[in-house]
Amino acid sequence: MADTDAVKEAKKFYEDVPMETPGFFLKGAGSLDWGMKNRLSRIFNPDTGRTVMLAIDHGYFQGPTTGLERIDLNIVPLMPYADAVMLTRGILRTTVPPWLTKPIVMRCSGGPSILKELSNEELAVDIEDAIRMNAAAVTLQVFIGGEFETRSVHNMTRLVDMGMRYGIPTMAVTAVGKDMVRDARYFRLACRICAELGAQFVKTYYIEEGFETVTASCPVPIVMAGGKKISELDALAMAYNAIQAGASGVDMGRNIFQSDAPKAMIQAVRKIVHENMKPVEAYELYETIKNEKKKN
Ligand code: R5P
Repeated sequence: MADTDAVKEAKKFYEDVPMETPGFFLKGAGSLDWGMKNRLSRIFNPDTGRTVMLAIDHGYFQGPTTGLERIDLNIVPLMPYADAVMLTRGILRTTVPPWLTKPIVMRCSGGPSILKELSNEELAVDIEDAIRMNAAAVTLQVFIGGEFETRSVHNMTRLVDMGMRYGIPTMAVTAVGKDMVRDARYFRLACRICAELGAQFVKTYYIEEGFETVTASCPVPIVMAGGKKISELDALAMAYNAIQAGASGVDMGRNIFQSDAPKAMIQAVRKIVHENMKPVEAYELYETIKNEKKKN
C-alpha cells in the first residue's frame, strides 16, 4: 500500500541504534565481493568509516560553474586533500594528471543541460570506459518524483548491474527538482529507493529536521551533498550535524571550491568528518590556515 498520505511520523527508526555491519566496516556492504569492498575502502577511510569527497562534476550540465572555470589551476591542487574526487571522464582525461592516485567516483549520467528538463538523463559512460579509467565507483542522478523518474531509476539499476559485473560500486545521487519539498519524508523515500534497487552508497542533501531518520532508514552509507554556497561556518556546521546524525561522510563541491580559501576549507571539513571536530573549532582552523597562506 502506498505510504504517501499524511501518515503519523511515529515510525520506529531507532536512530540511536546503529545498524550492525558484519563482515565489513561499512553499512550494508558485508555481503559484497572483494573487489567491491576494496574499492569502497579506497573511498571510505577504514579507520573512521568516513569520507571527504570533492565534487567537481557540475560542468556535465552547467558548463564552467563559478570556481570550476580552470580546473587545472584551481582544483587539481585541492585534490590531495580529498579522500576521493567525483568528476566526469572529460575532466579526468584532459585535466587530471594520471600520477594523482586519488580514487575517482565517475559521473556516468548526462544529457540535458540547465536549459532543459534535468531529469531527462541517460547513462553517458560505458562501464568498460570506467574500468579503463580505474574508477573506484560510478555515479549518477536519481530523480525521485521528477518528470523522468522511471528513466533515472532504470539508469541506476543498469549502472548497478554493470558495476556488480566488475566489482565497481554505484553511488546514487538523489536529485531534488526546483518545486519539490525537501523534507525528511522525501529524502527517506528517495534514499531508500536507491538502496533497495542496489546502490552501494547514496549522496543526499542535509535537512535540519529528521536527517537521522534518513540515515537510519537507509541500509547503505549516506554521504552529504554540499549544495549551494553558504558561509564557511554554516557549511562546517551542516557537515558536522550530518555526520553526527549518521552520515558516513560528505561529497562537497561549491562550499569548498567557491570558498574564499578552498584549501583551508577542505582541511577544516576533514577535521569534522574524520575527527568529529566541532564547527566553531573547525572554523577557527579554517581562519588560521587561510591567514597563514596570506602571509606566505
Ligand atoms: C549534481 O547535481 C551533482 O551531484 C553536482 O554537480 C555536485 O556533485 C554537487 O555538489 P555541490 O552541491 O556540493 O556543489
